[in-house]
Amino acid sequence: MKFKKNILCIGAGYVGGPSMAMIAYKCPDCRVTVVDINPARIDAWNSAELPVYEPGLDEIIKKTRSKNLFFAKDIENQIKENDIIFVSVNTPTKTFGAGAGKAADLQFVEKTARQILEHSQSPKIVIEKSTLPVKTALAMERILASAKGKITFEVLSNPEFMAEGTAMADLEKPDRVLIGSRETQSGLKARAELVDIYARWVPAEKIITSNIWSSELSKLVANAFLAQRVSSINSISALCEKTDADISEVARAVGMDSRVGSKFLKAGIGFGGSCFKKDILNLVYLCSYYGLQEVADYWESVVKINEYQQDRFTANILGSMFNTLAGKKICILGFSFKADTGDTRESPAIYITRKLLAEHAQVVISDPKALKNAAIDLASDKGKISYIEDPYSAASGCHALAILTDWELYRKLDFRKIYKSMVKPAFIFDGRNIIDHKKCFDIGFNVYPIGKPALSRFEDQSSV
Ligand code: UDX
Repeated sequence: MKFKKNILCIGAGYVGGPSMAMIAYKCPDCRVTVVDINPARIDAWNSAELPVYEPGLDEIIKKTRSKNLFFAKDIENQIKENDIIFVSVNTPTKTFGAGAGKAADLQFVEKTARQILEHSQSPKIVIEKSTLPVKTALAMERILASAKGKITFEVLSNPEFMAEGTAMADLEKPDRVLIGSRETQSGLKARAELVDIYARWVPAEKIITSNIWSSELSKLVANAFLAQRVSSINSISALCEKTDADISEVARAVGMDSRVGSKFLKAGIGFGGSCFKKDILNLVYLCSYYGLQEVADYWESVVKINEYQQDRFTANILGSMFNTLAGKKICILGFSFKADTGDTRESPAIYITRKLLAEHAQVVISDPKALKNAAIDLASDKGKISYIEDPYSAASGCHALAILTDWELYRKLDFRKIYKSMVKPAFIFDGRNIIDHKKCFDIGFNVYPIGKPALSRFEDQSSV
C-alpha cells in the first residue's frame, strides 16, 4: 500500500512510543516508524509486553502495529526513507562539566541531528519533540545547515504536554497542540504540513502556532507553573500542620476562585516524574545564563520546597515513632511517582526510602506496577528491602504504613484487617491524603496526614 506521508520518530521512549501510536491510529494513510538506538527497546515494542504501561496504549498498538505503525532497528535506512522526522530522544540533566546538575545534556540530540544529516538524501522536516532548552532548535539547524548539496531541512518545535497515566487520553484530546517554526516561507510551509497531521483529530482552535523559541520556552514554563502550584500548596501544608488549619479545606477555598482553578492543588510528599525537576532546573540554568539571578532563584525555590516536603515527611515519621526507627518495619504503599504508572523516575519514594534506611528501619515496599523499577532504583540497598506486591502481606508484621502513591486501591484497603496484622502501636503516614483518617484512627491507628492535624494517641513528640 502506498502511504500519503512517511513519518519517522527517533526515540522509542515514554513520549515517542505513545505519541506515534496516536498519530498512526488517527492517520491510517500515514506510515509511522519508530526507531531507537536500543534494540532491546524495539523488541519490547514489537512484543506482547510493551516497555511502557499506559491505559489504552495496548489497544491502539494492537490496532496499528504492522499495519501503519512499525518499530524498527535500521535507523540509517529509515532516515533515508522518511520525510518527516520527530526527534524524541532523552535529554537528561547534565552530570558533568558546565551546568552540571542543571543544564540539559544534549549529546543525544546532537548525535541524532548529525545522523539525520549524514543519511538524508532528500529534504526533511525535523521536529523537536523532546523537552529541550530554548535555542536547541538553533543548534540543530546549524548542524543540518552544514549539508552539502541541495538538501534542505526545516526544524520545527512541537513539545508534548501529555502526562503519564493519562497519556492516551491527553494525546487524543489535548488541551492544545503547539507548533513552533521559523517565520520564513519554508518554515511556514513545514508548519502547515504538521498542522495538517494533527488537524485529523484535534479541533483547529486547539492547534496553536508560534515562533520556534516561544514554543520551546512554553514547554519549560508550563511544567514550571504546574510544579510551582504543587510546591505552593505543599509549603502551606507545613503551616497548616502548625496551626490546625486543614490543607484540603484551604485548597478548596482557594481553588474555587476561577482565576486560580482547582486542579493541581493536592498537597502530598512532593512532585516526581521525569519532567518537572529537570525542566525547572533547565529554566533556572537558562535564567542564570542570561544574568537573571533573581528569576533563577525564584524558580529554584520550587525545587527546594519539594525537597523540604520530603524531609518534613520523614522527620515526621521519625518524630512520631518516638525518635527511633532502628529495627522497626515500615511498609511503603506505592513507589511510582504517581498513580496509574509504573514509572519511578524522580519518585519521592526513592528519597524517602533511603532516608528511612539511613535510620536503620527495615523497609517493605508494595506497589501494583512499580516493584521492578523500585528494585532497580534501590539496587545499591539490595538485601535491606523486601518487595511484596500484595499490600496485606506487605503490611503484616510492620510498625507503620507510609502511603507514598495515590493508587486508587489504597483507598479501598481493609484497614481493620491490616491493623490486626501489625505491631502495636500502629502508625499510618498518609503522604497523599487519600484514606479515611478518622475511620483509621477509630480502628486503632495513629494517623498522620499531610497538612492536617494528626490523629494520635500520643503527645506530639515530633522533632520537626
Ligand atoms: C507532567 C506534566 O503534567 C505534563 O504536561 C508534561 O508533559 C510532563 O510532566 P507527569 O510528570 O506525567 O506530567 O505527571 P503529573 O500528573 O503532572 O504529576 C507530576 C507530579 O506532581 C506527580 O508526582 C504528582 O503526584 C504530583 N502532584 C500533582 C501533586 O503532588 N499534587 C497535585 O495536585 C498534582
